[in-house]
Amino acid sequence: MRLTSFGRIAEPLPLIGQGTWKMGESKASRADEAAALQRGLDYGMNLIDTAEMYADGGAEEVVGEAIAGRRDEVFLVSKVLPDNASRAGTVEACERSLKRMGTDTIDLYLLHWPGEHPLADTIAAFQELREAGKIRYWGVSNFRMADLHECERIAVGENVTNQVLYNLQRRGIEHEMRDWCRQNGVMVMAYSPLDQLRLTHKQQLKEVAARHKVTPEQIALAWCIRRKGFITIPKSGNHQRIKQNAAAVDIQLTEQDLGDLNKGYPLPDSSAELECL
Ligand SMILES: NC(=O)c1ccc[n+]([C@@H]2O[C@H](COP(=O)([O-])OP(=O)(O)OC[C@H]3O[C@@H](n4cnc5c(N)ncnc54)[C@H](OP(=O)(O)O)[C@@H]3O)[C@@H](O)[C@H]2O)c1
Repeated sequence: MRLTSFGRIAEPLPLIGQGTWKMGESKASRADEAAALQRGLDYGMNLIDTAEMYADGGAEEVVGEAIAGRRDEVFLVSKVLPDNASRAGTVEACERSLKRMGTDTIDLYLLHWPGEHPLADTIAAFQELREAGKIRYWGVSNFRMADLHECERIAVGENVTNQVLYNLQRRGIEHEMRDWCRQNGVMVMAYSPLDQLRLTHKQQLKEVAARHKVTPEQIALAWCIRRKGFITIPKSGNHQRIKQNAAAVDIQLTEQDLGDLNKGYPLPDSSAELECL
């Protein structure tokens, strides 16, 4: 797996990690889901993204099962729900997440989306958690430009990432956010890189995939990470697709590929600053 070093995170991270949304929903499939995440770790996709929201903590439990005995290999990302993100609530939510995952540190802890609690309170809790060694970095998710600016006003230089919806069909962040993140060392973590299987297989995508002898989904992943400062976190519970997702890191898209994909999936107008699922 190729690694990237970028911005405010001091260590290299895999360009392609693993998502966990929809995991942990049924007790019967948990062992298989944990095994799938372990398979991804075997391929070097050792950034795992989860959240207290997913399956009401069930996904974090699956992650706990997957990383048991392998914690040192993993860069672990989880998220606090906005409703819990008061000063005290954030600390309590983090402690519950740590317990579910059987670890004493979350590498990167995110606010899942902007909510009603003052951002300054959430950030104060993040700082307290960081000082206590319960998290190593903090970041945000689904933040628009105005929210990112507010973050900098409260704690300049601290927010390490914005985890956002970004894929061939959802490119609104390219208008402004992409360059701002690059200039400020804020990693973009592209979620739903396959648009949760809603990615239309346009002719151009099929042609680029055929040229590289890979699947359209692999091209979609390679496209998300084509620029420095981006990583992506596809979710798969299927061993064959996990292998394909890991292999996508080695696809080098050419100028011709990128031009063709631009034609098939043009940039939306600037009103699409950021979409959410
Ligand atoms: N911050 C946020 O608000 C937010 C929102 C959404 C998601 N996320 C995070 O981002 C992660 C990824 O996004 P997502 O789960 O929404 O959607 P996604 O990764 O775009 O799509 C997941 C779907 O694609 C399938 N899939 C995976 N690899 C494939 C491949 N190589 N070929 C064909 N199908 C493939 C999976 O099925 P199989 O499992 O059967 O392979 C699954 O149904 C989430 O799991 C979560 O961790 C964050």
